[in-house]
Amino acid sequence: MILVVGGAGYIGSHMCKLLREAGEEHLVFDNLEQGHREALQGSPLFEGDLRRPEDLTEVFRRHPIDTVMHFAAYIAVGESVQHPGKYYRNNVTGVLNLLEAMVEAGVKRLIFSSTAAIFGDPRYVPIDEDHPKAPTSPYGDSKWAVERMLEAFDRAHGLRSVCLRYFNASGADPDGLVGEDHRPETHLIPAVLLAVLGKAPQVRIFGTDYDTPDGTCIRDYIHIMDLAEAHLLAVRHLREGGASERFNLGNGKGYSVREVIETVERVVGREVPKEEAPRRPGDPARLVASSAKAERVLGWKPRYPELETIVRHAWNWRRAHPDGYGG
Ligand SMILES: NC(=O)c1ccc[n+]([C@@H]2O[C@H](COP(=O)([O-])OP(=O)(O)OC[C@H]3O[C@@H](n4cnc5c(N)ncnc54)[C@H](O)[C@@H]3O)[C@@H](O)[C@H]2O)c1
Repeated sequence: MILVVGGAGYIGSHMCKLLREAGEEHLVFDNLEQGHREALQGSPLFEGDLRRPEDLTEVFRRHPIDTVMHFAAYIAVGESVQHPGKYYRNNVTGVLNLLEAMVEAGVKRLIFSSTAAIFGDPRYVPIDEDHPKAPTSPYGDSKWAVERMLEAFDRAHGLRSVCLRYFNASGADPDGLVGEDHRPETHLIPAVLLAVLGKAPQVRIFGTDYDTPDGTCIRDYIHIMDLAEAHLLAVRHLREGGASERFNLGNGKGYSVREVIETVERVVGREVPKEEAPRRPGDPARLVASSAKAERVLGWKPRYPELETIVRHAWNWRRAHPDGYGG
């Protein structure tokens, strides 16, 4: 059985959908602080909090778990600068509690959600796995701390892990059952869609004077179902006795903020209310992944690499759920 920690959140709920389709027995562990009960769509839930070791002991005692996928974390880079303690407690201490409970229960396989934020300001793009790690926020640092912790747990306890460093997770389930609903919404595509629907006054373009063709930041958008697929392949890798690995996951193409907005306008057929704003500190001009290693070792290949498809799937879900889950 796979324990999906944070399975009621954006990425976790898409993962659960794929696990249901693949016939993989699984259980969600979530405190529902950011996640949504409605996003579970029939996947079973154990309500618990990572910061309470007794909840973890209980879940491993009661269920025959052999693999863990860990999605649960606080995820807002800006907030992590304001409240580092909150981030290190949940994103590092919470994972430490999880690892100790896994060791205690003899569970030896973990897939961990890491992030492009561990690299900081890139020295070159596309960013491969060996790119120097220099996180510029407590959020990024919390993920890098866990990656290093995982090496130590592998050496000491034989706990095998795959760290997947996502670039910009985006889009939604093509069947429209689950989608993206963060509150507040800090991700570009859903924020643009909220502006289109009049749920936000406008979308703000932070920085128009970057050294990029149109002056706005370039990011690598990876479809959420492609991400989920990579997790299944990572589980297979560990089940077959593969060693611990780290993979960067993106689709290898960069799109600027203006290109994203133009794509939304094309897909939706409406103009997006927008406003230009100054750069945000710590936003690099370009973040683009090299996923060559994931393609080589896991046999992963994005099925939905086109921005237009990503936007269309996100829009289909948002249009049907203008107020998100519970709306
Ligand atoms: N969304 C992205 O673009 C992106 C990019 C890189 C990395 N990531 C990582 O992917 C993971 C999932 O991101 P997401 O966008 O799905 O976030 P999310 O906020 O939608 O989901 C996180 C889930 O974890 C749960 N959770 C948080 N703290 C918990 C705790 N202490 N105990 C139990 N449950 C807890 C929340 O209730 C929520 O359901 C995170 O680790 C994030 O850092 C996301």
